[in-house]
Amino acid sequence: MRIAESTVEAIREKVDVAELVKEYVPSLRHAGRSFKACCPFHQEKTPSFYVTPEKGIFHCFGCQKGGDAFKFLMEMEHLTFPEAVAKLGERVGIRVEPKESELDPREREFFKLREALTFAREFYAKVLVTAPEAAEARRYLDKRGLSPEMREAWGIGFAVGDGSSFLQNATRKGFAPELLAKAGLAGSRDAGRLRDFFRNRILFPITSVKGETVGFGARAMGDAMPKYLNSPDTPLFSKSRVLYGLFEGLAQARKARHIMLLEGYMDVLAAHQFGFKLTCAPLGTAVTPEHAALIKRYADTVTFVFDPDNAGASAALRGAELLLEQGLSVRIATVPDGLDPDELLHRDGTAAMDAFLAKAQDLPDFQTIRALAGRKGPLAAEDKARVAGEVLETIAKAPDEVLKAEWTRRLAQRLGIDEDALRSRIARGAAAPPARRFPSAANAAPEKPAELSAQDRTIIQALLADPALAADPERVLAQDLASDSARRILAALRAGAGKPTTVIVDGLEPGDASLARSLMVQGQMGERTPASLVEQTIDELRSVRRYRELDAEYMKMAAGERPKDPALIEEHARLRKALSDRRLLDRVKG
Ligand code: UTP
Ligand code: MN
Repeated sequence: MRIAESTVEAIREKVDVAELVKEYVPSLRHAGRSFKACCPFHQEKTPSFYVTPEKGIFHCFGCQKGGDAFKFLMEMEHLTFPEAVAKLGERVGIRVEPKESELDPREREFFKLREALTFAREFYAKVLVTAPEAAEARRYLDKRGLSPEMREAWGIGFAVGDGSSFLQNATRKGFAPELLAKAGLAGSRDAGRLRDFFRNRILFPITSVKGETVGFGARAMGDAMPKYLNSPDTPLFSKSRVLYGLFEGLAQARKARHIMLLEGYMDVLAAHQFGFKLTCAPLGTAVTPEHAALIKRYADTVTFVFDPDNAGASAALRGAELLLEQGLSVRIATVPDGLDPDELLHRDGTAAMDAFLAKAQDLPDFQTIRALAGRKGPLAAEDKARVAGEVLETIAKAPDEVLKAEWTRRLAQRLGIDEDALRSRIARGAAAPPARRFPSAANAAPEKPAELSAQDRTIIQALLADPALAADPERVLAQDLASDSARRILAALRAGAGKPTTVIVDGLEPGDASLARSLMVQGQMGERTPASLVEQTIDELRSVRRYRELDAEYMKMAAGERPKDPALIEEHARLRKALSDRRLLDRVKG
């Protein structure tokens, strides 16, 4: 969805960036016209993070992160730009969602698909609660211990077995059969005749992190196969991109920056019912890089919960390695007695779940203990080497050097081998394929901004404070500026005349943008107006430059290389005096 620029600007106008930042950085304190605090985006002991409400920006002199209120939320909450706009829009009471009539055809189709899925969710939920054909399903859920409150809150439904009642009801409501097929709610069967996709199954609506129903998981009654059936991939739904239960626990996960990955639908439902809101599950697939990207928006730590003796254990471990590579902190918790969390919770209650979660281990520990399990007595050298090799492979994937060192130390201790030997193996391993990383603007280290001359600095700072000054092509010339960065900022201000300065700055390449923001949050111009500062600085620069030219000619005359020119000599003397009075003569040499 594209959001109108005017809407974005209206929101930007209304948001107080300092107020927003303060909610995340309570230590934010007044510092002149700005506020400062220790940066929330990197570790530091002395504050170099500034917020300037009158410009609507933040900037950190330490890590160079900076931008407007939208950027702050994107970084802080790992949101996309439209999500940040929507969130701030809500805060200041400006509506971002367009009306249906304002949508283009593609967006309209998405809109219709969403409507169809919402209808399906409500339809199936009502069937579960009221239909006589759903009596067995209700009894089944009773037996499984899923509370009526959970069923209602999560929209659990039931599809009867006739294969047509959903289609009939939906088409009567005006949903076209082709649309229902596209939404994964109807599937063609014999000779093109459409039938309901879900038949005689309990339905679990799957919700995106935006809170929209995008598909269903469907459990068979009894022993019908397959036990679970998911919606087919549709324009709204892809199995590898969603986690069941993530939305329902999003507020808690965001706060804790932690999620727990379980294996199945019923496990997530039971866990939430018992108060474990950080739990969610992939839809019967392994953890994908798309999952990793999704998780990283909300959490720094992921706890994998699984049955170590189950066939799924090795897939879970590969998922854990993938998330580790992605910079997430990964922990492994195993359910005792070969039970599902669902079974354990209903048998032994929350204390049992708390107990095994408390025993969660980090990945190398888990692997080491698993590899050594059941062994008695001293390890043979070959065994040590094999276990070390396995675990080191994982350790090498950790993006953090401190962590690597700590893990290596512990592994050496556990195996009773020399730490240096392990370290050299890691070093050799590290020369091999580098950990895969997914490009992310948020993670790319911003360039260190260029150092500006004092004059470039004053001029650019004044132009940023009053961008209208840049519009006059004579006032500041590109050749008045010494650095390429300053020239690029000048050009951008000129080209972007009329736009908000923060928008122009956001359009600069990262190093220049960072430089511009650092000048905007400093802004120590005292009593002087930007116009007078520019005028004086430009006058000095041009005088110095003119004097240099004159001086070169003057030297040629003195050396007899060119005839004497009284006018030039006179101007040289006059300018020399003027520069000397203004104490600018030593700048001539520079
Ligand atoms: P399980 O077989 O462990 O089922 O599959 P479960 O979740 O414990 O369900 P109950 O307790 O028997 O009702 C774990 C997950 O694997 C996926 C589902 O996401 C399921 O929740 N799965 C399983 C499928 O996608 N298809 C299947 O046929 C089976
Ligand atoms: Mn189960």
